[in-house]
Amino acid sequence: MSQPEQGPMSGRIALVTGASGGIGGALALRLAAAGADLALTYSGHRQAAEGVAEQARALGRRAAVLAADLTDPRIATDLVDQVGTRLGPLDILIANAGTGRQLSWDDDALDVATWDSTMAVNLRAPWLLTRAALPGMVSRGFGRVLYVSSIAALNGGIVGPHYAASKAGLHGLMHHLAGRVAGHGVTVNTIAPALITGTGFFPAAPGEMPMPVPVGRLGRTEDVADLAMAMLTNGYLTNKVVTVDGGLYPT
Ligand SMILES: NC(=O)c1ccc[n+]([C@@H]2O[C@H](COP(=O)([O-])OP(=O)(O)OC[C@H]3O[C@@H](n4cnc5c(N)ncnc54)[C@H](OP(=O)(O)O)[C@@H]3O)[C@@H](O)[C@H]2O)c1
Repeated sequence: MSQPEQGPMSGRIALVTGASGGIGGALALRLAAAGADLALTYSGHRQAAEGVAEQARALGRRAAVLAADLTDPRIATDLVDQVGTRLGPLDILIANAGTGRQLSWDDDALDVATWDSTMAVNLRAPWLLTRAALPGMVSRGFGRVLYVSSIAALNGGIVGPHYAASKAGLHGLMHHLAGRVAGHGVTVNTIAPALITGTGFFPAAPGEMPMPVPVGRLGRTEDVADLAMAMLTNGYLTNKVVTVDGGLYPT
């Protein structure tokens, strides 16, 4: 094992939900490279999360892998405590896990159960995690909360109304919370990607563009991780939705 090196997140403890996925895995590794110890959740793909944990340990970090089906509110509520027991007090919460079956607004398959489970994973779980994490962050005078939204929250997107509404809800949640904890060293921000390949959400090959992207290519998980790290290391940035979308959406 290599010796732990100092970095901007040295000694910090981060929880990354959906670390078995493309964006979550890339972000977790970037946090590990910056010095953070990691709690990594998965729902169906344990091996993928274990692979990320192995790479983090090779960098000299501690890494715990936790099963978490975030449709269950008890699991979302308990996760922060689990992190505390396994690693210590949580400094950085990355609410990244997301689900979104592509369904038209007038498709009967978009039933109440699908609506509710999408909301549970994409919006209720980030809320429950944040509610559990914020008191400790506020009392210790440092915290970072980052939600992973989507440009669907801004332009409606292509997945469906359930997905767009769940992601837009994260923006309202962030706006409500950010000002209330800003004076305690805690930032709350949202990153809103689009068309990121190398993910379960968008497994397209790099050449396959479903729509013209101004920068002329699809996004990479590293593009999201780069921006996320800039947001997480900036204590003067809070209450912001920042898009990373190749220029698709004009904000
Ligand atoms: N890729 C894009 O173009 C894009 C664009 C905009 C926004 N996003 C957002 O980026 C985030 C990460 O997605 P990704 O693109 O990296 O896709 P991904 O590779 O499919 O990752 C999705 C992650 O969410 C987890 N997840 C799904 N359902 C869950 C549940 N019921 N409980 C707990 N975890 C669950 C998955 O866990 P398992 O795999 O272990 O089941 C996986 O780790 C999502 O919030 C997504 O909405 C992605």
